[in-house]
Amino acid sequence: MPRSRSDNRPLAGQVALVTGASQGIGLAIAHALAGAGCNVAVGSRTLHRSEALAKELVKAHHVKALPIELDVTKPPSVQNMAEKLLKYFMRIDIIVNNAGVMHMDQLLGADVARFTETLGTNVGGPFLVTRALVEEMMRNRRGHIVNIAAMAGLGGAPFLSAYCASKAALVSLTQSWAAELADFGITVHALCPDIVDTAALRAMLDVDGTPMLAPRVVAERVLELLTGDAPESGTIIPLEVAAT
Ligand SMILES: NC(=O)c1ccc[n+]([C@@H]2O[C@H](COP(=O)([O-])OP(=O)(O)OC[C@H]3O[C@@H](n4cnc5c(N)ncnc54)[C@H](OP(=O)(O)O)[C@@H]3O)[C@@H](O)[C@H]2O)c1
Repeated sequence: MPRSRSDNRPLAGQVALVTGASQGIGLAIAHALAGAGCNVAVGSRTLHRSEALAKELVKAHHVKALPIELDVTKPPSVQNMAEKLLKYFMRIDIIVNNAGVMHMDQLLGADVARFTETLGTNVGGPFLVTRALVEEMMRNRRGHIVNIAAMAGLGGAPFLSAYCASKAALVSLTQSWAAELADFGITVHALCPDIVDTAALRAMLDVDGTPMLAPRVVAERVLELLTGDAPESGTIIPLEVAAT
């Protein structure tokens, strides 16, 4: 039986923000959403990379794409992003809180600035970004928020305590927001990937020979959440290497 246009482009006409889309998992998510017909705003601190990605998305997927310079730790930058996005697209349907940082550090002598940066980016970022856009979703009584947490946030790990704590906090935000936004038709999920083969990870750890997820696999799971039968809002979804 022939597939209808909506089967091929299930997110046609919708608008998503992907934070941290300049590389790695965020870049793969931006491509997956655009491939499903979604118009996408891509934000990160490195504007030239977001601009290049936006051009690629338009060319490859025939959607609208808006590059935005965004530092998720800075309230004025987040506010500016929300204003630009809503002025350009006039709507927001999906927020993917993906921007994040990872640092290894021992407890003894741990760097305070790195601790603060990790919590500020991985927890403060999703908080500021979601707060800036959720009112529009509430007005429309629909929306999806996907937080990219991590398996590391579901248990601790040595030398990664700030990172693990930040992702555990993101899991907790997910559960609280899901309950708070349920009456507005807004769903909130946290996806918790195991290790993913990105340049950021390879710069931090010697992972040669370690089984890893491809960024594309994480992106496909995000797309499934947005277009298929998603579990109940507030569900925390582990994504294990072995499961792929
Ligand atoms: N790789 C893994 O093994 C793994 C596993 C589980 C979960 N995750 C999570 O998945 C997400 C993406 O990870 P990744 O491996 O793809 O990392 P990555 O390659 O380092 O990408 C991180 C992205 O976040 C952006 N970013 C960082 N700080 C930002 C800020 N203050 N404001 C705006 N954007 C910012 C970066 O762009 P700019 O530098 O241009 O701002 C970049 O686009 C993170 O939340 C990470 O914790 C990763």
